[in-house]
Amino acid sequence: MSSQTHIGSSGVAIVGAGLVGLGWAIVFARAGLNVRVFDHSAELVATLPDKLKQSLADLERFGLIEGPDEISRRVTYCDTLENAVSGVGYIQESVLERVDVKRGLYEQLDDLLDEQTIVGSSSSGIPSSAFTEGLSIAPRCLVAHPVNPPYLVPVVELVPASWTLPQAVDQVHALMHAVDQHPIRVTRELQGFVLNRLQGALLREAWALFEEGYCSAADIDATISKGLGLRWSFMGPFETIDLNAPGGVRDYANRLGGLYLDIDKERTDPQPWSEELISRVEAERRQALPLGSLGERSQWRDRRLMGLAAHKRDMEAGE
Ligand SMILES: NC(=O)c1ccc[n+]([C@@H]2O[C@H](COP(=O)([O-])OP(=O)(O)OC[C@H]3O[C@@H](n4cnc5c(N)ncnc54)[C@H](O)[C@@H]3O)[C@@H](O)[C@H]2O)c1
Repeated sequence: MSSQTHIGSSGVAIVGAGLVGLGWAIVFARAGLNVRVFDHSAELVATLPDKLKQSLADLERFGLIEGPDEISRRVTYCDTLENAVSGVGYIQESVLERVDVKRGLYEQLDDLLDEQTIVGSSSSGIPSSAFTEGLSIAPRCLVAHPVNPPYLVPVVELVPASWTLPQAVDQVHALMHAVDQHPIRVTRELQGFVLNRLQGALLREAWALFEEGYCSAADIDATISKGLGLRWSFMGPFETIDLNAPGGVRDYANRLGGLYLDIDKERTDPQPWSEELISRVEAERRQALPLGSLGERSQWRDRRLMGLAAHKRDMEAGE
């Protein structure tokens, strides 16, 4: 972690410690910061130390961290919201993706926070303007949207509301760098931000190809996992096409722009994912993976991500 002072130097708080909140606790504690965790479900909080221990043990096994005990000692579980947030420089809000739930929490935070504290929301798609309007803390609130689990997938989308102070975005950007995440700046609010818009474009085509009977769900998945996705773990779509024509991106656009335009013209009529369509995809997926095995398969995914993270670290160290 960078030795520079940043908003996390006085400690960070995680509010909402479900899938994503606990992942954030690992991100900050792994980087040497003190982390206070609050979730309003005492039942859930009781399970957190074991979950944290398990994830840290896996990370150590893959050579991605050292000193798991020291890391877990930096994480404190708080009984009240007030205890969690008082005096910290940064809060990573990770409560349910519902405007009313987020608004209720931000109204409480409005009464509790001092002038400096900045709040980043893990919101996947709700812009922060939907739950911060009119609050005195609003200029210090923004979206800091991670990917699950954030300690294995570093990108974080920073999305300001129109009233968010530019310095607040800069400070969260610096903090994310300091804790080894990869922040990207989205200049203003839009539905789904950038990551889920890109994912949405791909999903739209995946559902349509399946519905029209061109491919099984398994073969569509394989097209990504054995095809496009291999490059995507280290380069994005623009760099990909820049390398896929002898003259770079312009040459690619000249050669294949017409094909992509024709494809785009075929998809002019947005449709909801119908019940019938969802049932057909679900039937194929449940045959491949019974519902009761989702948790086990998620752990498999995380171990594959750990292997990939170790590989990327080693490759990037040698570049
Ligand atoms: N799961 C993902 O893949 C993913 C990825 C990126 C972002 N997110 C976003 O992160 C946020 C959290 O999602 P999640 O998947 O961790 O959900 P989750 O249901 O696993 O966790 C949410 C937690 O918030 C707690 N909570 C609710 N209201 C609270 C309050 N007022 N005070 C304290 N705790 C409260 C709940 O008890 C629960 O433990 C959402 O905004 C979601 O969209 C999720």
